[in-house]
Amino acid sequence: NESMDGVNRSVVYEFVLMGLTNSWGLQLFLFLFSSIFYTASMLGNFLIVLTVISEPRLHSPMYFLLANLSFIDMIDSCIVTPKMICDLFKKHKSISFGGCVSQIFFIHCIGGVEMVLLIAMAFDRYIAICKPLHYLTIMNLRICIGILISGWIIGLTHSLIQLGFVIQLPFCGPNKVDSFYCDLPRFIKLACTDTYKLQFLVTANSGFISLGAFFILIISYVIILATVRQHSSSGGSSKALSTLSAHITVVILFFGPCIFVYVWPFPTLPLDKFLAIFDSVITPFLNPTIYTFRNKEMKVAMKRLWSQLLKSQTFS
Ligand SMILES: *[C@@H]1O[C@H](CO)[C@@H](O)[C@H](O)[C@H]1NC(C)=O
Repeated sequence: NESMDGVNRSVVYEFVLMGLTNSWGLQLFLFLFSSIFYTASMLGNFLIVLTVISEPRLHSPMYFLLANLSFIDMIDSCIVTPKMICDLFKKHKSISFGGCVSQIFFIHCIGGVEMVLLIAMAFDRYIAICKPLHYLTIMNLRICIGILISGWIIGLTHSLIQLGFVIQLPFCGPNKVDSFYCDLPRFIKLACTDTYKLQFLVTANSGFISLGAFFILIISYVIILATVRQHSSSGGSSKALSTLSAHITVVILFFGPCIFVYVWPFPTLPLDKFLAIFDSVITPFLNPTIYTFRNKEMKVAMKRLWSQLLKSQTFS
């Protein structure tokens, strides 16, 4: 396998990312679009974490979960997007073998944590709306921390299992990834061995997890909506409805592309890589805007934080 220039061809040290498009106009558009969304979601999510931590009135399970979701979204924004933005105008977009594997690791780990958090938030709303008298006994800080720890354990385990399947694969030359980031389906396809079974295994794993989480979420929101409708004579139901529709929008926008990437059976039609833009660029931005900035308590807390900042400026 030793070639003339002394490079051992049996090892692939880096992958070449084909990117999304060669059209200059589209690249410019993607550049502006992704930079704006990236900056906005980093700032927005940071602001949410800061507000929830610094405002004692927001120290409740719902806001802790929201702040943790924002924290996860900040990590999520950094896995794929900055590299994609830097690569956009490069002719030769490459990523090291280690870089590729770490992208896969973080995508699956953070994705897993995010799914657990979304389910926990649906559960929180379910208890608040359907079992309001038991809310304080069921949703307490201990449960919240338990949810978080199990979320991280589930995310880590899922990601390590997925990597465990593929880490031994031999790579002997093909190294062109037809996308703007590394993920399992395309990574596996480059291995120099029959990967049919493995592809099925890995795709089924992520596919089933996303489909499963999606159905759990949709079912819980249907139950919550039904309960809200039953008690629709009481005030506050329109507020609950608007909160719920916001949550459901996020769930559909998050899981739609995610399920599509893993369950889409026609890899020759590269629709999935455009949809992947959704999950890497738009979802981290949606969570803060949809869950939080429409929330009155949150707005009040942010204003208070802002005026405190101004005050400390004038006195120092
Ligand atoms: C996440 O939630 C825990 C409590 O469940 C809280 O103590 C912690 O501050 C939250 N983390 C962030 C980044 O908001």
